[in-house]
Amino acid sequence: MSKKPVRVAVTGAAGQIGYALLFRIASGEMLGKDQPVILQLLEIPDEKAQKALKGVMMELEDCAFPLLAGMEAHSDPMTAFKDTDYALLVGARPRGPGMERKDLLSANAQIFTAQGKALNAVASRNVRVLVVGNPANTNAYIAMKSAPDLPRKNFTAMLRLDHNRALSQIAAKTGKPVASIEKMAVWGNHSPTMYADYRFATIEGQSVKEMINDEEWNRNVFLPTVGKRGAAIIEARGLSSAASAANAAIDHMRDWALGTNGKWVTMGVPSNGEYGIPKDVIFGYPVTCEGGEYKIVEGLPIDEFSQERLNITLKELQEEQDGVKHLL
Ligand code: NAD
Ligand code: LMR
Repeated sequence: MSKKPVRVAVTGAAGQIGYALLFRIASGEMLGKDQPVILQLLEIPDEKAQKALKGVMMELEDCAFPLLAGMEAHSDPMTAFKDTDYALLVGARPRGPGMERKDLLSANAQIFTAQGKALNAVASRNVRVLVVGNPANTNAYIAMKSAPDLPRKNFTAMLRLDHNRALSQIAAKTGKPVASIEKMAVWGNHSPTMYADYRFATIEGQSVKEMINDEEWNRNVFLPTVGKRGAAIIEARGLSSAASAANAAIDHMRDWALGTNGKWVTMGVPSNGEYGIPKDVIFGYPVTCEGGEYKIVEGLPIDEFSQERLNITLKELQEEQDGVKHLL
């Protein structure tokens, strides 16, 4: 094996997303089939959680993955994040039925302050961070603000699950394969205020908006279906999405690291003022990735309805930010 192993930290490693995620990272689905990885796994110090983590590690061992170059169990972010090149911050409390993701803010905000500080202190200076734990955008904002010595652009939040959900709904509506859909965008917060936007989407060069030609369906079926999909899954499963969330995390990191060949994907990234979003708000944007960097797709026209939707999701993000000001 010629490539040097990279270090991948995963928090909440014994949780349900962790169980759907680690085996795919170790098999090379995230960083490539030629890239060895060292897994640095973090769980809370609680005896039961650490024991469960050991069990997951036994199973990882039993897969004999050729790319798994090492594996460590941690209970302290200061050791778990040491020299890490990639950090997937999954560990947090999930919501239950009847809760909104922002109801988790106070429970989870402290986790991301501590983890941001630990990344700042010990991670690789170019660590790429994906926050999955909810409310993902604001947790990513907290971690970024707690890590002033690391590049802001390297703190991202997961909106890929929303992007993938939007693709599937459009595929079902048009009867076309999911892989044929290009230029989907999801703007804003990973919450029901997100704005899944197929105005620019195409299938084999044809406009999806023109193919569907049904604004009632867009506003009254598509947007609520994508926006409330997380709650629908909690209602059906009694637990929040896990395999689809892990799949989206793999997609997000793989595309960031290995590139999208010009294709658009959605990432929650810190704004630099694009589309009038204030600097530092972690906002879902359409991006392309190349050479290990993402680039926001700029210059798209924003019509009146879209501007209203952007304003709504931004307002919610700003309220969430206000709610954690005292921690920063
Ligand atoms: P889970 O309860 O099954 O697992 C979470 C794990 O995190 C637990 O094992 C817990 O012990 C651990 N943990 C808690 N605090 C920790 C800390 N400070 N450090 C390290 N580990 C810690 O939950 P899950 O279903 O795996 O979901 C995890 C998070 O992901 C939740 O916040 C959930 O809402 C969120 N989520 C986000 C998306 C998204 O699209 N952004 C999708 C699905 C789930
Ligand atoms: C999801 O979108 O499935 C996750 O964010 C879990 C949740 O609370 O909805």
